[in-house]
Amino acid sequence: MVYPKPVWPIFGELAAILCGVLESNKPFKTGNSVLLGGETVEGIKRRYNALILAHNYQIPEIQEIADYVGDSLELSCKAAESNKDVIVFCGVKFMAETAKILSPEKTILLPAAGAGCPLADKADVEELRKVKSLYPGAAVVCYVNSSAEIKAESDICCTSSNAAAIVNSLEEEEIIFVPDGNLARWVAGQTDKKIIPWEGNCPIHNRVLISDIHRMKKAAPDAEILVHPECSPEVIDAADLAASTSGIIRYSRESDKKRFIIGTEVGILHRLQEQSPEKEFFILSPGLVCPDMKLTADVDMVRNCLENKTPEIDVQEDIRVKAFNAVSKMLEII
Ligand code: 13P
Repeated sequence: MVYPKPVWPIFGELAAILCGVLESNKPFKTGNSVLLGGETVEGIKRRYNALILAHNYQIPEIQEIADYVGDSLELSCKAAESNKDVIVFCGVKFMAETAKILSPEKTILLPAAGAGCPLADKADVEELRKVKSLYPGAAVVCYVNSSAEIKAESDICCTSSNAAAIVNSLEEEEIIFVPDGNLARWVAGQTDKKIIPWEGNCPIHNRVLISDIHRMKKAAPDAEILVHPECSPEVIDAADLAASTSGIIRYSRESDKKRFIIGTEVGILHRLQEQSPEKEFFILSPGLVCPDMKLTADVDMVRNCLENKTPEIDVQEDIRVKAFNAVSKMLEII
């Protein structure tokens, strides 16, 4: 009996050709460079004299095309030091604004125009002025997760990696700490100064519960629990370490332990695993995904943003000048 020639291999070939055509429009990796419509990211960056910065929470493919990946402080330093004309900030708005505050002559691009920060939105300038009038002798320390307007109203800025050092460097004995209440209380435990906390919180870090720590300690007693200081004080007390995102990455790399439970945004796992491939990392709680950080969804967004020079971040000059004082004072101290 003669069987008809199977047709599926033909469809298979057709499908492969079609996928190849579709794939050729997508970025793909060749070694450590990513092709974008035929041009490497390196080529596009050179053409525009651009620098790509990515926060530790960004998705892996964005981290891989970045010149630097880091925490808020490291990225602020890189933005300040850079002699490039254009900075593409793969993060959220307050980060790109901080780069503009430091480098007004540069074009600062934020690939996802809507990438905000609910914690930064918790602080209102009028409200801060009222609190300042209640404590006329107090210094105002603003967490970098704040708007340019709040930075302009503050004496000095800080990030999670230098908050206690910044507070302890000040002459004033009373400190209004805005906008993260959990971070403020964490700093209060590392200083003799009176901290007046603002009651803002990060909705993602607020999802980390003390019951998650108890559950994980039972499930993996050999593992160390590392959390971000935006978590609640009871979570921080029960953890082995509270540190900035890069602090967590450094600590786990240098630790003798082999397993770590991580209480911060899930994007950090990529860098943790890359820096310590022989170790194991688990996320402490469900739902630790920052929707704003994930708005930078693929490499094409970065390419389009560079090609079209939009969305560009700008800061009104009078606000920028005042905010510059707060941010540059921080950079002088650390
Ligand atoms: P880091 O400075 O620790 O990277 O923190 C940034 C942040 O926004 C945490 O939610």
